[in-house]
Order: sequence, then C-alpha cells, then structure tokens
Amino acid sequence: MTQLQFFRNRSAGRLVVAAFRRYAMTFGMAILPFSILRVLLLRFCGVLVGNGCYIGFNVICDTNYAELIKIGDNVTISHDTVIYVHTASPVDSPLSKLYNQIRPVTIENGAWIGAGCIVLPGVTIAKDCMVGAGSVVASSTLPSCLFAGNPCKMIKVLSFALHQNS
Ligand SMILES: CC(C)(COP(=O)(O)OP(=O)(O)OC[C@H]1O[C@@H](n2cnc3c(N)ncnc32)[C@H](O)[C@@H]1OP(=O)(O)O)[C@@H](O)C(=O)NCCC(=O)NCCS
Repeated sequence: MTQLQFFRNRSAGRLVVAAFRRYAMTFGMAILPFSILRVLLLRFCGVLVGNGCYIGFNVICDTNYAELIKIGDNVTISHDTVIYVHTASPVDSPLSKLYNQIRPVTIENGAWIGAGCIVLPGVTIAKDCMVGAGSVVASSTLPSCLFAGNPCKMIKVLSFALHQNS
C-alpha cells in the first residue's frame, strides 16, 4: 500500500482528527506569540517541520493530510500563507469526481515563502528558493531563484547562486 493509499483509507477517524487539528491550528497560529511555539503546534498537528525554521502568524497547513507536508531545515514561511495537499469536496457533483486528489507538498531547506502565499497540492519549493509575497504556487520551483505572481513564475536567479557558480 502506498503512502497516499494509506491516507485515503483513513476515513471517519481521519475526519475527526482533521477537525481537531483545524481548531488547534486556526486559533493557535493566530495567538501563539513566538515562532518556535507555532513550529511545535504544526508538528503536533502532524506536519513534518525541520530545524531552524521561522513560521509566521496565521500560517495554515492542510489539516486533512498534514503528514503529507514536509518542511525542511532553515525554512521561512511568512504570515498568512496557506499550504494545501488535497483537492476534494464532499458534494456529489461531476466536479467533485473530476477534482479529487491528494498530492504531497515539500518545502526544501533554506526556502522562503513570502506573506500571503497559497501553495497548491503536488508542489515542491526548491532549496533556497524565494517565493514573493502573495504568490499562488501551482507548480514546483527551481533552487536559488525568485519566483512570484499568480500563477507563480520564475523572475530571476538570485545573486548568491550566481556568485557560487562564478
Ligand atoms: C520578492 C521580494 C523580496 C523582492 O525581491 P527583489 O529581489 O528585491 O525583487 P525586485 O523587487 O527587484 O522585483 C523583481 C521583479 O519581481 C517582481 N516581484 C517582486 N515581488 C513580487 C511579488 N511578491 N509578486 C509579484 N511580482 C513580484 C517585481 O515587480 C519585479 O518585476 P519587474 O522586473 O517586471 O519590474 C519582495 O517583493 C517580497 O515579496 N517580499 C516578501 C515580503 C514578506 O513576505 N514579508 C513578510 C516577512 S515575515
């Protein structure tokens, strides 16, 4: 059984856990005053968070499948960013049959996601990549580059990467 099949098969119990996590995250990420406390809350809710990270206020991770969000070391996630790993609706409709997927999100070491971003299922934000504030990240990024906008596109290679290669 793959990891994704495992999570799909946890139905009722998973919904209860997700509801609890949602309350904990909604209130906790708004009021906990220090990043380290917000990191601990994300870990408590099942998100894999590395060391040396800064997590801003109101950062929300998909509570239905929090285990599928992996945040590396020395990552910054600025305020009001939301990370989703699933697309699904309980409504019986053609759209809910068409759009029903669970895809992990990975944020690699040293990346920085600016304030107010939305990270969509299946995305990997590469090592040392900067994502500009307010971006909607629909596809994976490249290392040591600035990505920004909606949809999020590469803007430039960052100066420290150019110096490393010269
Ligand atoms: C990305 C950022 C750091 C600027 O980086 P920079 O290297 O100085 O980039 P520049 O300002 O030179 O912009 C380069 C290009 O990217 C565009 N750009 C920069 N940030 C952008 C954003 N968030 N969304 C869309 N486009 C953006 C600029 O308009 C510019 O486009 P142009 O070349 O067509 O004029 C800044 O825009 C940003 O998003 N900061 C994050 C703020 C934040 O989250 N603060 C919370 C801290 S906890």
